[in-house]
Amino acid sequence: MSAHYVIAIDGPAASGKGTLARRLARHLGFAYLDTGTLYRAVGKAVRDGGGNPEFESDAVFAAQNFAHSLKAEDLQNPALRTDEAGQDASKVAKYPQVREALLQFQKDFAASPPEGIAGVVMDGRDIGTVICPDADVKLFVTASTEVRSKRRYLELTAKGLKTSMEAVMADMTERDARDSGRDTAPLKPAEDAHILDTSMLDADAAFAAALAIVLKGLQRS
Ligand code: CDP
Repeated sequence: MSAHYVIAIDGPAASGKGTLARRLARHLGFAYLDTGTLYRAVGKAVRDGGGNPEFESDAVFAAQNFAHSLKAEDLQNPALRTDEAGQDASKVAKYPQVREALLQFQKDFAASPPEGIAGVVMDGRDIGTVICPDADVKLFVTASTEVRSKRRYLELTAKGLKTSMEAVMADMTERDARDSGRDTAPLKPAEDAHILDTSMLDADAAFAAALAIVLKGLQRS
C-alpha cells in the first residue's frame, strides 16, 4: 500500500476529463499529470524531426529520445493543444514501444509525489488499466460524440483556430476508433472504474459529481 492517494481518470477525447482532473487536483492539493501531453509531445517531436507519426520507427525513435530528456516545460507548449497534435498523438500511441518508453516516467510520477503532497491525479486512456491498476479511485469520464465534438469545437475556436463542427467530429470519431481499437492499452474503463457520463452536466456539475465519487473512494481506501 502506498502512503499517498492515487486517482486515475480516463476517458475519450474532450470528455471533460482533463478539466475535471486538474480541478480535482487543485481542490485536493494533489499533484497532477496530463499523460496525453506526453503522447502529443512525441507526435510533435516526430514532425519536428521531419518524420511521419504513422511510421513505427519514427515514432519509437522520437519517444525514446524524448523520454531520456523529458523536462516539465516541454509539456507546456501551446502547439501541443491543436487537433492535429491530438491526431499525431493517437498515431504514435498505438505502438507498444512508444508506450513502453513513456511508462516509467508515468509510474514514477504516480509513485513519488513531491514532498508534502498527499496524492496524485493522472488522466489519460490507460491510467486505471495499465499505469495505476491499484489506484485508490478510478473514474472513466465520458460523453456523447456530439457533446464532445461541440466542446472541442468551442475550445479550438476560442483559441482562434479555424475549423468546423464537421471537421472536429470527423477527427474525434477517427481518433476514438484508433484509441479503442489498438491492441496495446486500448481505451476502455477498468473493471473497477466509476463511469461518469458528463453529456448532460456542465463543468461545475461534473466536478461536483466527480468530487463526491472521489471523496467516497478515498474514505474507503
Ligand atoms: O485532450 P484529449 O482527450 O483530446 O487528448 P489527450 O488526452 O491529450 O490524448 C491525446 C492522444 O494521446 C489520445 O488520443 C491517445 O491516443 C493518446 N493517449 C494514450 O494513448 N494514453 C494516454 N494515457 C493518454 C493519451
